Amino acid sequence: MTTVLPGVYTDDAFARTEASDGPAAISVADGVYRPQEDSALLIDTLLDAGRAEGSRVADLCSGSGVVALAAAAQGAASVAAFERSPRAVMCARANAAAAGANVRVHRGSWTRAAEFAPFDVITCNPPYVPFAEDADDRQIPRAAGPDTAWNAGRDGRQVLDPLCESAPDLLAAGGTMFIVHSEFADADRTVGGLRAGGLHAEVVAEQWIPFGPVLTARAHWLERVGLLEAGRREERLVVVRADRV
Ligand SMILES: C[S@@+](CC[C@H](N)C(=O)[O-])C[C@H]1O[C@@H](n2cnc3c(N)ncnc32)[C@H](O)[C@@H]1O
Repeated sequence: MTTVLPGVYTDDAFARTEASDGPAAISVADGVYRPQEDSALLIDTLLDAGRAEGSRVADLCSGSGVVALAAAAQGAASVAAFERSPRAVMCARANAAAAGANVRVHRGSWTRAAEFAPFDVITCNPPYVPFAEDADDRQIPRAAGPDTAWNAGRDGRQVLDPLCESAPDLLAAGGTMFIVHSEFADADRTVGGLRAGGLHAEVVAEQWIPFGPVLTARAHWLERVGLLEAGRREERLVVVRADRV
């Protein structure tokens, strides 16, 4: 695996992110999710699979557009990005323009992808962190970005469940979806949900990482609700690949 986004978590209002195999660099505006280990794992998996070249690609929950730009850099025939945050849409459009990349950024829910389907390749780094009102978020620094980028309901599956259900309709025959998320959002449910729609699905990449600022702030809550063993402060990220055969 290649690491394309080294050391991307910074306190700067704007971070320059160097990508060795993808786009030359991206800018991340204040209030937009900064590409992190999950973004890098998703990009590495996509590039290693060699699936973007010549494909119609959709990048859902696109943020700064970093994954969409990596797909474009690998020679995608077209890339459609979908993102709900207006700030992130502006940021992704600016990054695409700066890279001269053929990426069309649509503002709105990822569900808008249905208007443009089918796609040969779909990538998604959705919000996936379990959240409840009794979680204490006061320790989360502003630099961690907007909570809409990570909060995903009590089980972390607010986007994941409907995404798994929609996957067969969004993918062309022979198409592939790559989804990254944390163990805390239950990889077995993602694999099971995708298989229930007739797709071939499995975990194809994983990485253990130390807790970032969001999970560090939520650690005691995760322990209290039984999602985390006492004292553990690292999480397993997974990429689930689903193929429509
Ligand atoms: C974890 S970030 C990932 C950003 C980017 N793909 C990356 O890997 O760096 C999730 C992104 O999804 C966006 N988002 C959240 N809910 C969404 C929805 N229902 N439809 C589209 N985008 C959404 C957030 O604004 C945020 O930019």
